[in-house]
Amino acid sequence: MPKAAAPAGVTVTPVGAVIGAEVQGIDLSGDLERGVRAWIRDAVIEHGVLVFRGQDLDAPRFHDFAGGFGPLQHHVLRKYRHKDFPGLSWLTNVEADGSVDRFGVTRATSWHTDGTYTDDPPAIGILHALETPSKGAGTLFVSMKAAYAALTDGERTRIAPLVGLHRHGGGPGGGMYDNSLDEDQAEGHSDVRHPAVRPHPASGEPVLYVNPTHVRSFEGMKPEDSVPLVLELVDKATRRDVVYHHNWRPGDLLMWDEHSTMHRGEGAYDPAERRVMLRAIVQRCTRA
Ligand SMILES: [Fe+2]
Repeated sequence: MPKAAAPAGVTVTPVGAVIGAEVQGIDLSGDLERGVRAWIRDAVIEHGVLVFRGQDLDAPRFHDFAGGFGPLQHHVLRKYRHKDFPGLSWLTNVEADGSVDRFGVTRATSWHTDGTYTDDPPAIGILHALETPSKGAGTLFVSMKAAYAALTDGERTRIAPLVGLHRHGGGPGGGMYDNSLDEDQAEGHSDVRHPAVRPHPASGEPVLYVNPTHVRSFEGMKPEDSVPLVLELVDKATRRDVVYHHNWRPGDLLMWDEHSTMHRGEGAYDPAERRVMLRAIVQRCTRA
């Protein structure tokens, strides 16, 4: 995909060895020119993760910002949805009554890509930090484009014909999702098929589309054969030196390419410290 020049006054600085870039010079709380929004969308795909520091968006503005890229997905769990904006959700360890939700600390700490257990996985994830613990509450990201590129010819040949069977929390790392679906959400209880090597919907680049939280098995393989392969591929994809570890500060806003990355929460903070973030998932980029 051709790289567009950054808008005037905007700088882009890599933050990880393989994935991630910090963007300075854009206030996301205001009206964005159409060209700026389109540049952000393309930069998310190019860098995998974009980091914006020092932003200040309340729920209506965050909703305007995220919704400006395309329709927003409603969170799979109703309890986390924002009451005024169902396209937004809370990522927090604080319950409505102010008590600490212990599951909020360990939630989503296994490597995963959001929504791969649906037929039409989303395009972009966005988080905006309002309150952050002092340490241990980071988010880790890896590029699955880079993971595919790093495979040997033999490994590529081996996985080229494979089709992953995805189910909500059904993979070897999916225990954190036990009993977490609302009862009427049948979509999470049947397998959805995605090729192990999936072309990026926008750029066409090959992506290793395997994650240990939702990939239950490969089609035609026994789980006892496919689970070790899933874990082997994930091990290679998540070597420490290729991970971007984001340490959150209040005001941070991150956007990531759901089609080419995996992420997980660090999940190592003191639950007595509050972690409050607003989250949006752009289903499809139709407006930028
Ligand atoms: Fe996630």
